[in-house]
Amino acid sequence: MTKMASPVPAAAERGPAAGSPARARVAVAGATGYAGQELVRLLARHPGVTLTDAMSSGASSAPRPLPALKRIWDGAVIPLDVDRLARTADVVMLALPEAAAAEVGTPLVDRGVRVIDLSGAFRIRSDADRERWYPATRTLPAGVVYALPERHADAIRTARLASCPGCYPTAALLALEPLAAAGLLTGSIVIDAKSGISGAGKTPSDRTHFCENHGSVAAYGIFSHRHTAEIEQELAGPVTFVPHLVPLDRGILETIYVSVRPGVTEAHVGGALQEAYASAPFVRLTGTDLPEIKHVAYTNFCDIGWRVDPERGRLVLVVVLDNLLKGAAGQGVQNLNIMLGIDERTGLL
Ligand SMILES: NC(=O)c1ccc[n+]([C@@H]2O[C@H](COP(=O)([O-])OP(=O)(O)OC[C@H]3O[C@@H](n4cnc5c(N)ncnc54)[C@H](OP(=O)(O)O)[C@@H]3O)[C@@H](O)[C@H]2O)c1
Repeated sequence: MTKMASPVPAAAERGPAAGSPARARVAVAGATGYAGQELVRLLARHPGVTLTDAMSSGASSAPRPLPALKRIWDGAVIPLDVDRLARTADVVMLALPEAAAAEVGTPLVDRGVRVIDLSGAFRIRSDADRERWYPATRTLPAGVVYALPERHADAIRTARLASCPGCYPTAALLALEPLAAAGLLTGSIVIDAKSGISGAGKTPSDRTHFCENHGSVAAYGIFSHRHTAEIEQELAGPVTFVPHLVPLDRGILETIYVSVRPGVTEAHVGGALQEAYASAPFVRLTGTDLPEIKHVAYTNFCDIGWRVDPERGRLVLVVVLDNLLKGAAGQGVQNLNIMLGIDERTGLL
């Protein structure tokens, strides 16, 4: 029987493009955090990369291992050292709180290092909005790109700083942008989002403490979550965004309620999404079979399903992703692959 060609090349076939350096030197800052550990896990096995350093905050002066990654990465996390990053890495991936990213990102870019930032520090283009939501970032360095890989790959290829979208905006924008561009949407957009607790990072608070979350679901940040500003920037219009914390360790599910023009059907919605994502390896369209968090946990996939009530002109989209992978580290590595000019699936499938 003839063996079918796989649509996904084997890892060994997905190395750096001809003519590019054998392996890019990539470092991680924030490697002891939830997103940073996922970066280390992905980069340690990435065939196009040498992981040069993994750094923590510097709060502890002693190098320390990452026990969960033993035998995947047996290095030691060292305290943050920006000079060392600038000397030894071609690309630095930042998984830091946004104020720390704002402080570190621009000096690295100024010293010729390419930066991929997972924080919100460089996402907002309007000075006034950035001052409100991310006041530590006074100006944006030249060469910043809002880096949703499925939408902005051309700009990411030459970006000096790829500012990765937030976890909630990634899900919302992947579902809504193609539909808005196709002119299918009318009226208000309501994004009802649920996130696992790792979305808040490793330091527990009153809200994220196990005893507060276990057995409960809570809304938060209504009209005051900074991801609203990011979604509205990219959609160029207002949205109502209501996030909830749910007692899961990881994963996001967004139920998005939209009005559509009369006569718009599920086939129209599917057509616009299929056209947008025909060659996108990490967006899976599930149609009227609605996706679940378990389908995407521990992967870089974003799954999108939808239902339309044509009589009432109502569309409901259901979008899921893993906040630490497609919402953070996985998307960062996807952007790294695009920057390096290699297959964007490298190290991710
Ligand atoms: N969690 C998510 O689902 C998610 C999704 C998308 C984007 N993000 C963004 O990604 C970034 C990291 O998120 P996270 O959830 O991984 O955070 P986290 O678990 O709290 O980890 C933060 C990391 O940054 C280091 N750090 C803390 N303060 C620092 C400082 N002042 N200077 C330098 N390093 C410092 C910590 O080192 P120590 O261990 O030494 O404290 C740790 O390695 C954040 O900007 C977040 O908004 C997170």
